[in-house]
Amino acid sequence: MKIIVDRQVCAGHALCAAKAPDVYQLDDEGYCCSNGATVPPHLHEQARLGARHCPEAAILLVDDEDAP
Ligand code: F3S
Repeated sequence: MKIIVDRQVCAGHALCAAKAPDVYQLDDEGYCCSNGATVPPHLHEQARLGARHCPEAAILLVDDEDAP
C-alpha cells in the first residue's frame, strides 16, 4: 500500500498523524509529508483509519500494483 497526499488539499489538520502516528508524518508546518510512503501490511488498518479522519480527504491509499 502506498500513500498519496494531495498537498494542495492538505490544510494541516493533523488528524491523520493523531489517529495513525506510525503511518503519517507531519512537516515543520504541520502538513502531512508522507506522500509516496509505502505502508507495511501490519499498518494498513491504521493507515485507513488516519485517511478516513482527514477532514479534507487529502489522503488516497493505493494498492502497490495500482501505484503510479
Ligand atoms: Fe493534512 Fe488531512 Fe492530515 S488536512 S495534515 S492530510 S488530516
